[in-house]
Amino acid sequence: FLLFGKSKSLEKGVKIATNKSGYEAAAKRFNPADLEVNLSGRSFMVTGANSGIGKATAQEIANRGGTVHMLCRNKGRADAAKEEIVEKSKNQEVHVHIVDMSNMRQVWEFVETFSQNNTLHVLINNAGCMINQRELTDEGIEKNFATNTLGTFILTKALIPLLKKATDPRVVTVSSGGMLTQKLDVDNLQFEKGTFDGTMAYAQNKRQQVILTEAWAAQHKEIHFFSMHPGWADTPAVQTSMPSFHAKMQSRLRTEAMGADTVVWLAASPSASKQKSGLFFQDRTAVATHLPLAASKSSPQEEEKLVIVLEELAQKFKP
Ligand SMILES: *[C@@H]1O[C@H](CO)[C@@H](O)[C@H](O)[C@H]1NC(C)=O
Ligand SMILES: *[C@@H]1O[C@H](CO)[C@@H](O)[C@H](O)[C@H]1NC(C)=O
Repeated sequence: FLLFGKSKSLEKGVKIATNKSGYEAAAKRFNPADLEVNLSGRSFMVTGANSGIGKATAQEIANRGGTVHMLCRNKGRADAAKEEIVEKSKNQEVHVHIVDMSNMRQVWEFVETFSQNNTLHVLINNAGCMINQRELTDEGIEKNFATNTLGTFILTKALIPLLKKATDPRVVTVSSGGMLTQKLDVDNLQFEKGTFDGTMAYAQNKRQQVILTEAWAAQHKEIHFFSMHPGWADTPAVQTSMPSFHAKMQSRLRTEAMGADTVVWLAASPSASKQKSGLFFQDRTAVATHLPLAASKSSPQEEEKLVIVLEELAQKFKP
């Protein structure tokens, strides 16, 4: 499993390392003015916003005056995170919505209600999970796939009409460089075949997110869709799902804020809206979605099939 690999930028062929020193090297070419923005009047939704990269992202947006909608599963943890964000930013426009991204009916119902009285400029699909056994949700869906792929698919799809009413709408999906090891396996989306491996399941889901981002970009020209790799950051999620990796790599892991930097840049900077929709980013740079010579490329037919299968599953749970 490729963890500390380097990604290759699309334009200049620069190699970007995914660890902490990779971030520090990349940050030397960042333009600080890119994030000197006043986000007052713009509305951002962040899933999984109570910890890790999601929380760091919510904080950065609140600091710049944006309205933040935090989607979280646990009310206690969400309220605590919100309080901290409001206190540090002095921005009252931070709202908590309790939604379990692995529950498809809840996701549909949430968007239905939210869309009635809200505007939305930017959706940030950050929530994710890596469960190491094959388990099903109450709705009978494999849990990693439910949270990372189908939940993300339904939330995005259902919010597209609302996003289209906004100026400069964007969707940023937090994927992972782990997806570079995977080729889309569209006939085994819920890991019914073969031996189950949580890390592989997660990386498959992250590959699916990159492919969906490209598909959405092709279909909805009014919206900018971006996927990205935050690099390897020291987050509660990495600590729980990959304890030995976390222990071994600790000092080389990025901080949460470093992991969130490109998310915030894609979501908020005027520069990002000049980027081509559909691309995959690392450290504010579009990077390749396949390793050189890798057999990870899927056919257009396989990618179309992914969208069709997700569409059918999504409809099945629509209230
Ligand atoms: C941001 O813009 C809003 C509305 O235009 C304004 O009220 C506010 O003072 C600005 N904030 C800063 C820090 O400039
Ligand atoms: C939306 O706003 C209307 C009018 O203010 C109100 O009647 C309605 O209850 C609101 N709906 C939700 C879901 O908050």
